[in-house]
Amino acid sequence: DWTPAHFITDTIAALKKQIGDNKVVMAISGGVDSTVAATLISRAVGDKLHGIFVDNGVLRKDEYETVLKTYKKLGLNVKGIDAKDDFYKKLKGKTDPEKKRKAIGKLFIEIFQQEAKKIKGVSFLGQGTIYPDVIESVSVHGPSVTIKSHHNVGGLPKKMHLSLVEPLRNLFKDEVRKVGTELGIPEDMISRHPFPGPGLAIRILGEVTEEKVKLLQKADDIYVKALKDHNLYATVWQAGSILLPVRSVGVMGDERTYEFTVALRAVTSVDGMTADWAHLPYDFLANVSNDIINSVRGINRVVYDISSKPPATIEWE
Ligand code: XMP
Repeated sequence: DWTPAHFITDTIAALKKQIGDNKVVMAISGGVDSTVAATLISRAVGDKLHGIFVDNGVLRKDEYETVLKTYKKLGLNVKGIDAKDDFYKKLKGKTDPEKKRKAIGKLFIEIFQQEAKKIKGVSFLGQGTIYPDVIESVSVHGPSVTIKSHHNVGGLPKKMHLSLVEPLRNLFKDEVRKVGTELGIPEDMISRHPFPGPGLAIRILGEVTEEKVKLLQKADDIYVKALKDHNLYATVWQAGSILLPVRSVGVMGDERTYEFTVALRAVTSVDGMTADWAHLPYDFLANVSNDIINSVRGINRVVYDISSKPPATIEWE
């Protein structure tokens, strides 16, 4: 019988055998899959796992600090790399969604490779690949971009002569979550919505700047916290905020404002391939809208996305 406990015991034994006295390098993102995979590897070989967590400047508000703290608590040997400024430099002037994605993916791989090189005698590359990733070779965005392209360091194993360690290769998402819970990974991390590798960069339409990131982080944080407070977070498959590249007129006290609009998105879905917009309660949306407009200077209008996929996609870019 498959149980999380049995899976963990068997997998740790298999990982010990596979890895032996060698070292494993792995990019960890704060997502469920990479966190569960890294925890399993760490239980098997301890600090021979070298995790790398990169702040690419387009994470959610406080995410870098929070995730690093959780990793420390879990006893993972993870190095945090603050590369925000490098990413902002690469994103400067770029407005095309695919160019933004590529710029982020390329820099991420460069940084990861640089860090991996510093670890003497590393021979394995850890990855949080799960069964649906294995079977889903077709991209949702067309030929150039696949889901998880950001963490798909596919070219690396060959180039760096690394062998893959993928302890979750045969599991579905719900099984990964059960294993994670059994491993003592906090509920917050286990029940996280999927978050795209290029992060807020594809939720800031047009050019990404540090100022826009800060603006969107504030609005998004209000939205996500409210979803959690009202027990709505778990009822949707994914939720997020999008910063639109238009400004519109508003009024505040007796002053005229001319500020940005944020779009809120929440969808129900099974696998992200199709999705329906979530019918969040009007009262809830009204409160979130008020909170954002009253507390985030620079945003004077909030709209709710009522488009389903297809033909709309979940992300706006
Ligand atoms: P779309 O927008 O195509 O998104 O309906 C479907 C799912 O894929 C995620 N997504 C990405 N994930 N890199 C990622 O790692 C990407 O470039 C990317 N684009 C979309 C999206 O968040 C949703 O869960």
